[in-house]
Amino acid sequence: MHTTVGKDSEGEQMDFSEIVKKRYATKKFTGEMIPQDKIDELLDLVRLAPSSFGLQQFKVKVVTDKEMKEKLQAASWNQPQITTCSHLLVFCAYTDVPKRIKQFGELMTAAGVPAENVQGFTDMTSGFVSNLSKEALLAWTSRQAYIALDHAMLGATALGFDSCPMEGFDAAAYSKILELPENTVPVVICPVGIAADEPRPKLRVSKDDLFF
Ligand SMILES: Cc1cc2nc3c(=O)[nH]c(=O)nc-3n(C[C@H](O)[C@H](O)[C@H](O)COP(=O)(O)O)c2cc1C
Repeated sequence: MHTTVGKDSEGEQMDFSEIVKKRYATKKFTGEMIPQDKIDELLDLVRLAPSSFGLQQFKVKVVTDKEMKEKLQAASWNQPQITTCSHLLVFCAYTDVPKRIKQFGELMTAAGVPAENVQGFTDMTSGFVSNLSKEALLAWTSRQAYIALDHAMLGATALGFDSCPMEGFDAAAYSKILELPENTVPVVICPVGIAADEPRPKLRVSKDDLFF
């Protein structure tokens, strides 16, 4: 069964397989701004990404300000996506998670989960986290952000926009420029906008090589 989502450049509906094939790492955008209602839809798709224990161990800074983008471009190997995109999503992994554990416990309570189960969840996740080194914790929270990144990329295509996953930036400079909370680290970014370039051929290893 095909779920019908997204529209291609001719306004035709695209199914999920077409969305995956159409997405590509856009190197330059037109500078046109995406309407707020579409961005809201995109951010909701990002919000719905799965995460380990459901904790959503990251935050996403959304940047639209022109001057801010210029400063960030200088901290991103001068890549043109930063200043030509509509919205720049900066995925920031948490370096701690007690707040998220508490929040998720509250969501469970609001959803009618019995108090002892909420307590059990809180104790279990707190125990899991306390056994992680600082580095392992950041690696773990970063992985969750990358799953949300994929929602952003495919969501953008589904909504008729383009995107680029990017690690080519200086995280410390981003933290400073954007005055990010101290308990977050920017790990990957995703400019979203209307492409001003053409997709390149997909270079991928064969299925025989990839799957074993
Ligand atoms: C985690 C990650 C980081 C990337 N960083 C950059 C980047 O800094 N700049 C850039 O232009 N492309 C970046 N890319 C895009 C890749 O080069 C691109 O996805 C890959 O070549 C495959 O091409 P396609 O996405 O167009 O299919 C990144 C991709 C990923 C997944």
